Amino acid sequence: MTIDKKYLDKLINVTSKAAIASSFLLGKKNKIAADQAAVDSMRKELNNIDMRGEIVIGEGSLDEAPMLYNGEKLGTQNGPEFDIAVDPLEGTNFAANNLPGALSVIAISNKGNLFKAPETYMHKIATSRTEKGLIDLDYSIKKNISNLAEFKNTQPSNLRACILDRPRHKKIIDELKKLKVQIKLISDGDITGALLVTKPSFNVDIFLGIGGGPEGVLAAAALDSYDCYFQGKFIFNQKDSIEEAKKMGIKNLDKKYDLKEIIKGDTMFCATAITKTMGMKGVIIENQNSFITETLVTHKNSNNNYSTIEKRKIIFDHI
Ligand code: FBP
Repeated sequence: MTIDKKYLDKLINVTSKAAIASSFLLGKKNKIAADQAAVDSMRKELNNIDMRGEIVIGEGSLDEAPMLYNGEKLGTQNGPEFDIAVDPLEGTNFAANNLPGALSVIAISNKGNLFKAPETYMHKIATSRTEKGLIDLDYSIKKNISNLAEFKNTQPSNLRACILDRPRHKKIIDELKKLKVQIKLISDGDITGALLVTKPSFNVDIFLGIGGGPEGVLAAAALDSYDCYFQGKFIFNQKDSIEEAKKMGIKNLDKKYDLKEIIKGDTMFCATAITKTMGMKGVIIENQNSFITETLVTHKNSNNNYSTIEKRKIIFDHI
């Protein structure tokens, strides 16, 4: 079932307001407060929408409230049933230090169509559209890179890979170096990292490495609209996450998930820039209550796929 287009407009309003709320805390060296401001605004705005929404990808569980927690019901309880994935402030360090890359992110699908997952790490790999079987988390870095180079009719040394700058990625980075691949190391923000494969102008051919599972699901929601390739494998190595996964009905803890197993059917995705990123400017203050936001919007739907950057003037009474 196609999600009514009017919801896209409402979601742009939700992430725009969360971005504005968080922007008041830019550079205040307090990532928790910046996150909380985005969470509070997002919850308030989502509760104004005519829908029966449930958070399936949120921040923690009920006992960690006041975050938007998994299982939380949102909306007026009149209207369609939606699964909701949120990252009210993606890139808390960026916001705390007023650096480029902070986003407020949401995705919705019809009920049952978004993968329910515990908050755990995930192995991820993303590229633009490729042939089936070309790229796989189980292949060596060398095989993925040479397959991609061959597919793009180029040399591995002409490929560009994006990866989070973490000690856990040393082996992958060393391997990429050996293959002479150009490496783009990011300090945080792997939703953006994955989305850099969507346009040639972002100069990234492949995104890979371990990052947050919720961020993986959110990135997959947008990548679907661009017909990009994504594969993810959750890492269940903590007692808590294993128990939670079992409760959620995940039987095979080692399973790799293709994009279509993570996101099904119609999906809407919005990411509003808090600070500049992906060609967007970040929140701009026009005057006391008036702000300009830019939001990356995608809508995967059976008729046609849609992606654009929406500029909005938002009135926000914050005090
Ligand atoms: P936060 O916004 O929650 O700080 O997450 C930032 C982030 O860089 C994500 O984009 C990424 O998935 C995750 O942290 C990586 O986790 P870690 O910093 O533990 O490697």
